[in-house]
Amino acid sequence: MRVLLTGGAGFIGSHITEALLARGDDVVVLDALLPSAHPVPHTPHPGVSWIHGDVRDTAAVSGALRGVDVVCHQAAMVGLGKDFADAPAYVGCNELGTATLLAAMAESPVRDLVLAGSMVVYGEGRYDCARHGRVTPGPRAESDLAAGAFEPRCPRCGDALAPGLVGEDAPTDPRNVYAAGKLAQEHLAAAWARATGGRAVSLRYHNVYGPGMPRDTPYAGVASFFRSSLARGEAPTVFEDGGQRRDFVHVRDIAAANVLAMTALTHREPGSFRAYNAGSGTPHTVGEMARALAEACDGPAPVVTGEYRLGDVRHITASSKRLRDELGWRPDIPFEAGVREFAHAPQRAVALN
Ligand SMILES: NC(=O)c1ccc[n+]([C@@H]2O[C@H](COP(=O)([O-])OP(=O)(O)OC[C@H]3O[C@@H](n4cnc5c(N)ncnc54)[C@H](O)[C@@H]3O)[C@@H](O)[C@H]2O)c1
Ligand SMILES: [Zn+2]
Repeated sequence: MRVLLTGGAGFIGSHITEALLARGDDVVVLDALLPSAHPVPHTPHPGVSWIHGDVRDTAAVSGALRGVDVVCHQAAMVGLGKDFADAPAYVGCNELGTATLLAAMAESPVRDLVLAGSMVVYGEGRYDCARHGRVTPGPRAESDLAAGAFEPRCPRCGDALAPGLVGEDAPTDPRNVYAAGKLAQEHLAAAWARATGGRAVSLRYHNVYGPGMPRDTPYAGVASFFRSSLARGEAPTVFEDGGQRRDFVHVRDIAAANVLAMTALTHREPGSFRAYNAGSGTPHTVGEMARALAEACDGPAPVVTGEYRLGDVRHITASSKRLRDELGWRPDIPFEAGVREFAHAPQRAVALN
């Protein structure tokens, strides 16, 4: 395949690059090298056709699409940003950027798209009340969080809830600008597919971690914060009570899912869009991640601070059964082995490639 990989200089994109090159595919990387994601100069992988360009630039994207079979769209501004003033930058990179890319694809013969989705589209995960069955708790009140009442409660009776696994057909409920953009990207991809006879797949990644993960910036994931603290010899600080459930999935497993999805597109109906959750299937708490990393680094034990961020969800773990059943994806790297490797792997400032 000849693949246009947007965001290919990023954390996940670098691993997709490696996976594609290992198969003998041709890789065209288009990446704007956002300063937030690339605080130090980036050296492009020698095996790729490198384009330093922005997905919002029609001319750059149209040129990059020449001769391409499939687009793997990873470029995005990630994380929660610093405050709401960042909203236009997020919407520009993520929504306008995706629309510009899709418009250029519509003018080209390329009809296959794999999109980097996210489980943030679901908001709070799935919950069951012993009395009321499946319920959807709203955002947690600041007064509850300040009082250390972190668990969402049944919106009907106030009882404690049991968290479960979210399926792809669960209602979406994006809770911040980034999440709204990840959902908008999917809607745009679906609209493009219908309008052009294209075939699009979104992989809704869980918390991706592994070698090359960016250091602690306001844009990085929680595992990266812990890892960076430990690298400084400091204890990782854990928000809330550390009981937040997440699905930490290894970046090489996510790269493999992308390759699988790209190769599977030819079997799909023209005009179709399908979303797949992509997680390890084994939830862990944020506190468990901090402890496992601290042990693997032989560092100080985590400190649970009770701090919180408004808009954070308590538990979000999804079922990746659809991806396993329909595409035969099997994540390979268990949590323990992945964390041990991550504890000693370089982070992004020591670039992966
Ligand atoms: N890391 C995770 O846990 C996670 C979870 C869910 C979804 N995702 C999604 O996966 C994708 C890759 O994320 P990542 O963690 O590798 O982040 P990253 O910041 O390391 O990589 C993103 C890359 O996109 C590039 N980029 C951003 N805006 C661009 C633009 N307008 N034009 C061209 N390039 C641009 C950046 O320069 C960067 O190299 C993103 O779409 C993200 O939303 C990541
Ligand atoms: Zn109830």
